Formats: sequence, structure tokens, C-alpha cells
Amino acid sequence: MDNAQIAAELKRLKAEKDAVILAHYYVPPETQELADYVGDSFYLARLARTLDCKVIVLCGVSFMAESAKMLNPSRTVLLPDVTADCPMAHMVRKEDVDAVRAENDDLAVVCYINSTAEIKTWSDVCVTSSNAVKVVRELSEKNILFIPDMHLGHYVSLQVPEKNFIFNRGYCPIHHRMIPEEVEALELAHPDAVVLAHPECTQEVLQEADFIGSTKQMIEYTATSDAKEFIVCTVVGVKREMELATQGTGKQFFFPATTPICVNMVKVTPEKVLACLRDETGAVSMPENVEKATAPLERMLELAAR
Ligand code: 13P
Ligand code: SF4
Repeated sequence: MDNAQIAAELKRLKAEKDAVILAHYYVPPETQELADYVGDSFYLARLARTLDCKVIVLCGVSFMAESAKMLNPSRTVLLPDVTADCPMAHMVRKEDVDAVRAENDDLAVVCYINSTAEIKTWSDVCVTSSNAVKVVRELSEKNILFIPDMHLGHYVSLQVPEKNFIFNRGYCPIHHRMIPEEVEALELAHPDAVVLAHPECTQEVLQEADFIGSTKQMIEYTATSDAKEFIVCTVVGVKREMELATQGTGKQFFFPATTPICVNMVKVTPEKVLACLRDETGAVSMPENVEKATAPLERMLELAAR
């Protein structure tokens, strides 16, 4: 089946099952093409909460589907590949969080949405890369334990110097292995290019950047900027939407030589999306302790909207 045939079959199934397809920018371009909505983690979480349909197919990794289920519990949420999991979502230990809580008063545990539901139950508030600075600024606590991502945590700490940060050692393997030398090589080849970076990158890569933001914020930047060339330090899946957002302008996008591909996101192929909706497989179940896991997500939505 080619993508047009898959799209036609999905159209029929969506109507029959009252389903909506959401996708993250890191899934393959041909999967993004099939989605009703494509966005960053914050957009997908906010949208999932308000969707009035029976079934949500979440083309992304498991924490995204789990968050959608918690924010919209009466819907069926399907994950096309249940093995698509974000390694960073597991990179923090309960004993480390407990130890920091025991040692610090006036503490908020701030949890990147890239985390399991269990990790969310240890936390006070969630953040995404697009709202982390705003949400942390809104908190009344002076001390912040930022989990699991050390790089996003460090980036936020520089924007909110009035707070005292404690970091964890988690990271995204794809952004963590991006090296400044590869960015510098691109800057030499394209001296007029603007450098965009995701805050999951290391400090060394972020130092090269002219703009730092979530996937959606980077895409919006390419659409509104006068620049013609962009060096993009994030997963290559964003290229499709950057090209769509800048159609007819001749703008060009360059990625580090070691192409940043999220091996979990690319598992979500069009064939799996079709099979999952057709057979209603990959249904996400409500996590244990669901109220405690949902509360930090709800708090994020509330603080980000202020
Ligand atoms: P955003 O799309 O929210 O910027 O997040 C990137 C990411 O790594 C999702 O897993
Ligand atoms: Fe996780 Fe990194 Fe993949 Fe995002 S890009 S889902 S943080 S492994």
C-alpha cells in the first residue's frame, strides 16, 4: 500500500471509529502527512485534553500517549508502536528525588514531560521545552530539583537565576551526542545561516545557537525570520514542517553531519498507524496512582496559561 492508499483507508476508519490522529514532528515525514494535527509536546498535550472524539491515535513515543490518556481519560488512546519509548523518560531514580526532598525545604520537583507516569507521581509540576522557563518562574519555591533532563534543566537555570537549581543526570541520547564541531563546520560552510537549537542539547552546542526553543518554536522562527539559511540542532524530523512553513521562499535547512534521528520516533511508520487504528491495538492503560501522576500535568497547564 502506498501512502495515498493508507491515507484513504485511514480516512474511512477515522470516520467509522470517531478517531483523530496526532503526531510529533520527529516521526517520519510520511507519518506526519497522515496526521490531523502535528506539533510539539506541549501542543499535543493541550490538544489531547480538549479533543472530543472516541479514539486518539498518538504518533509519538509512550510518554506522549500516556500523557494524552491522563489528560483525557475517557478516550481510547492508541500508540502505533508500543516499543517506541523515550530512554530519557526513565533516567531518574526515586531514591535521588527522596534524598533531595529530605535535604531541602522550599523545594519544587520539576519534571520534564519526557518522563514515565511513575516519575510524574514523584513530582510537583511538569514542563515541556516550550514552557519550562515560564512555569519555573511562576513557582513560589526557591529550590528547584529538575528531572530527568540535565541539559534542559541547566538551560532553564540560566534564564531563572533567582532560583537555586539541583540537577539530575538524565539526557536525550540524540541531543546529548550532538557536538559543537559539527555545528561549527556548518557555520563555516554557511556563514549567513542562523543557528537554531533545542534546549535538550549540551551547553557547548547551545553556546553556538542564535535561537533556542522547542521544535514548534524553531519552526515558527524559520517562518518569520528574514534569514535564508538555518542550521538546525534537533531531530531531523522537523525539516518537513520547516519546509512547509517556508514554502516558496527558498529557505534552506542544514543538520549536523551525524544526522540526528530518534530511533524510537521513526518506528512509527504509516503501516503501523493504519494497523493500530484498524485493529485497535496499542491501547494505553491508565497508570497506577493516576491522580498523583496527572496533578503535575494539570499544574503545568494552569501555570503555562497564566
Ligand atoms: P518538543 O517537541 O516539545 O520540543 O520536544 C522534543 C522532544 O524531544 C520530544 O521528545
Ligand atoms: Fe526522547 Fe530524545 Fe527521542 Fe525526544 S528525541 S523522544 S527526548 S530520545
